Amino acid sequence: MSDQERKQTAVSLKARKGTADKIVALTAYDATMARLLDEGGADVLMVGDSLGMVVQGHATTLPVTVDEICYHGRAVARGMRRAHLVGDLPFMSFQVSPEQALLAAGRLIKEGCFESVKLEGGVVVAEQIRRIVAAGIPVMGHVGLTPQSVHRMGGFRVQGKGEDAALAVLADAQAVEQAGAFSVVIEGVPASLGRRITEHLSIPTIGIGAGPHCDGQVLVSYDFLGMIRGFAPKFVRHFAELGDQIVDATRAYARAVQDGSFPDHTHSFADASTLPAASSAAVGGSSPGSPERAASYGPGREER
Ligand code: KIV
Repeated sequence: MSDQERKQTAVSLKARKGTADKIVALTAYDATMARLLDEGGADVLMVGDSLGMVVQGHATTLPVTVDEICYHGRAVARGMRRAHLVGDLPFMSFQVSPEQALLAAGRLIKEGCFESVKLEGGVVVAEQIRRIVAAGIPVMGHVGLTPQSVHRMGGFRVQGKGEDAALAVLADAQAVEQAGAFSVVIEGVPASLGRRITEHLSIPTIGIGAGPHCDGQVLVSYDFLGMIRGFAPKFVRHFAELGDQIVDATRAYARAVQDGSFPDHTHSFADASTLPAASSAAVGGSSPGSPERAASYGPGREER
């Protein structure tokens, strides 16, 4: 089995620190998208609390619950195969105490099918990280622009500008490393600070709006696919324009339904007595990839 096919783990990801083999991370919230991103070569799929904004439509990530992260985790786990699955500890699920953090992390592993957990913060959550890691659960840190602190920051603002602020973010990253995290997300900091932190740490840094020098990169999948039309902050590149394509496709579908060109006979079922045996058997279920699949209602479903 080649490295490209090997299942990614917290251990294999940590071993990529400082190598040219950058870690490719994306967020995912459902099985179908997870299957596609995994097939495309994502090493890490994160069920981020960004789901509160891009899936649920909230203005911040703050309303997201542990139950919701677990629900989406189970869905993503059913779709993926090779990537490492990380679950975000949502706001107020870990800040209160190390015990609270461990209980929430345990729920993500047991109920959400996650393989590691991510939590925001540095020095102030080091004890939480220590406690979770001691229980056998790998932790990814998250420093810099931490969206759960949106109100303290006065908005989603770049952090670590100026030497004092940069030293504070660096101290957070070092605290996360010393507490036992296997990697750390650095969000929304100047590129020079992203580089400085990456050079100081012995665990991989995964940047988002942190410049090109990190050991890996993460983006919200809706952002890199261009699904949120008109939203392209400086740190995001649209690798597709699915938002435009979805609107265009919907318009085409609406036209076809209105003018009666869809569905036509090629998209309609014939009476069973007029079908060959193989295709009538296919309707209602077939194995993924089988020739009958195209005639079925959809892929076979695995329970997880
Ligand atoms: O919530 C999220 O999706 C995240 C990643 C973008 C790092 O925190």
